[in-house]
Amino acid sequence: MRVVRSLQAMQKISRQLRQRHQSIGFVPTMGALHEGHLSLVDRARRENRIVVVSIFVNPRQFGLREDLARYPRPFRKDLQLCEKKKVDFIFYPTLRQMYPEDFHTHVEVEDLSEVLCGKSRPGHFRGVATVVTKLFNIILPHRAYFGRKDAQQAVVIQRMVKDLNMAVSVKVMPTVREKDGLAMSSRNTHLKPQERKDAVVLSESLSLARKLITGGEKSAATIIDRMRNHIAKKPSAKTDYIAIVNGKTLEPVKKVCAGCLIALAVRIGKTRLIDNYIA
Ligand code: PAJ
Repeated sequence: MRVVRSLQAMQKISRQLRQRHQSIGFVPTMGALHEGHLSLVDRARRENRIVVVSIFVNPRQFGLREDLARYPRPFRKDLQLCEKKKVDFIFYPTLRQMYPEDFHTHVEVEDLSEVLCGKSRPGHFRGVATVVTKLFNIILPHRAYFGRKDAQQAVVIQRMVKDLNMAVSVKVMPTVREKDGLAMSSRNTHLKPQERKDAVVLSESLSLARKLITGGEKSAATIIDRMRNHIAKKPSAKTDYIAIVNGKTLEPVKKVCAGCLIALAVRIGKTRLIDNYIA
């Protein structure tokens, strides 16, 4: 495994791999790797000759009052995990290389970026779309792997790749969870012990939605109400949003249908967590 810090060096390696017809599977991350990330690496390992993981905490997708400074950065541990998974290259660029002082270009995926998480995190998906475009242009992957956990991000990236005719196949993999159902996330490490217990309300409320739907409930408003009431039982939990939307357009639906996305964001103490379920 090789750690590549220089953007030019990475791009040169990728070009040579492509010339030799070696398929490149790419997993973009912000580090603090857990089983969720590693499931993407496993899949990339199975489907490609070469696996590249990027580790870059992208400041441009964090809002001014968000947790950029306290985002965990356990780089050595991340390296060990990648080594075990037989990753070929870690791309670990510096901030200055990714965003030189004269940086001026952004990628904006309209509409899809402004709803759900985009409402409380203005500019977030523009930051994500821009950095992912840069990473695609540097790593030149044949396939790129994303987690369903960040469902809106996956939709935004798929739309961007299609709209801008990017030559990469986007794969979206299932959410990996802790034993009690909590979706794995780097941000779970911020939770205090009681908050960690309370955090299970996100997946519980989605299970409740699933149960209601299997029982024949179709009304989005009713399901959302029931989920909201369930979450309100935990004093540390504050719902940011609960939404039932079309899985491609992210537009709200009144009646739940197959392929609908049920998504929510909840603050547990100071930590904002997200989860979702596809009906
Ligand atoms: P990060 O939060 O590090 O996540 C990297 C990838 O891992 C994303 O595609 C995310 O959806 C996936 N992932 C996270 N938790 C998961 C889980 N429990 N199960 C399955 N997949 C999971 O998402 C980002 O970084 C950034 O926005 C990035 C795309 C790297 C751009 O900066």
